[in-house]
Amino acid sequence: MKLDGKVAVVTGGARGNGLASALALAREGADIALLDICRDIDTVPYPLSDQAKLDDAVQQIKALGQNAIGVACDVRFEADVIAAVQRVLDEFGHVDILVNNAGVTSLTAVVDMPEEEWDNLVDTHLKGAFLCSKHVLRHMIGQHSGKVVNIGSVGSFKGFGLGAHYSAAKHGMLGFTKSLAMEVADHNINVNAVCPGTVWTDMMIGLVDSLGMDQEEAQEQFTMDHLMNADHPVTSEDVANAVLWLCTDDSRNTTGFALGVDSGWLAH
Ligand SMILES: NC(=O)c1ccc[n+]([C@@H]2O[C@H](COP(=O)([O-])OP(=O)(O)OC[C@H]3O[C@@H](n4cnc5c(N)ncnc54)[C@H](O)[C@@H]3O)[C@@H](O)[C@H]2O)c1
Repeated sequence: MKLDGKVAVVTGGARGNGLASALALAREGADIALLDICRDIDTVPYPLSDQAKLDDAVQQIKALGQNAIGVACDVRFEADVIAAVQRVLDEFGHVDILVNNAGVTSLTAVVDMPEEEWDNLVDTHLKGAFLCSKHVLRHMIGQHSGKVVNIGSVGSFKGFGLGAHYSAAKHGMLGFTKSLAMEVADHNINVNAVCPGTVWTDMMIGLVDSLGMDQEEAQEQFTMDHLMNADHPVTSEDVANAVLWLCTDDSRNTTGFALGVDSGWLAH
C-alpha cells in the first residue's frame, strides 16, 4: 500500500470531506489522527460535529485495520493545536501528512455581518491552516519529508454573493499554499490545495436547512455550474481521491498547486 507506516492528521475529520479523505488515506495504509471541534460555533447556522460523531469516525478508520485517534481541537486556537499535535506525536511518534480541511460556512451580506461571524469563519479556514501547518511542519522539517494538503474551494477563485468571508478565506488558502510550498520545498515537503465544487455534505445540508430552502431545489441551484452533474455529482469521495493523490509520492513533483474537483465549474 502506498502509505504504509505513514501518519496523517486530518482537521475537521469527524465527517464530510475530512472523514472521506481520512478513510482514503487509511485504505492506503496510513494511521490517522482526526481533529475536530466537537462543539458548535454560535455564528455558524448549523450544528458542527460532536464527540460522538468523532468517536464514530475513529471506529470507521479502525474497522479498516488502521490505528486511529480522535482529538477534540478547535483549530482557531494555538493552545488547542499545540496540545493536539503533541497528543498525535505521543501516540504515533511522527506525522507525515496534514490535511487542513476544517471549515464552516454561512451566507451574510458584508454590511450585515457581525465581526465575530467574519472572525469565526476566516479563523477556522485560514488561521487554522496556518496554526496546524506551523506546529506539524516543525516535525516534518526534522524528518525531511511531508505532505500538506489545504482544502480550498471554487470560492478560492470566484466571488460568492453573501459569501465574502468564505471566498476571502478560500482565496487566502491558495496564497498560503503557494507561499508555504516555496518555504518548505528544500525540506522535501509538498504543499498543495484541493478545490472542490459543491459537495452535498452536512455543511450544505445544514446551511440549506437554516435558510428554510427545499434540499432538492437548493442542490440543483448550488450545482448548476457543474458540467458533469447529470452523470456524477461531486462527492466527498471525489475530493478524497484528489487528497490521496497529493499525499502519495505519485505527486512528488507537484507542489504549490491547486487541483480542482469542481466538475468543470471553473472552466466557464
Ligand atoms: N461541501 C462543499 O460544498 C464544499 C465545497 C468546497 C470546499 N469545501 C470545504 O471542505 C471542507 C470540509 O467541509 P464539509 O463540506 O465536509 O463540511 P462539514 O461541515 O461536513 O465538515 C466540516 C468539519 O469541520 C469541523 N470544524 C468546523 N470548525 C472547526 C474548528 N474551528 N476546528 C476544528 N474542526 C472544525 C466540523 O465539526 C465538521 O466536522 C471545508 O474546508 C469546506 O470549506 C466544502
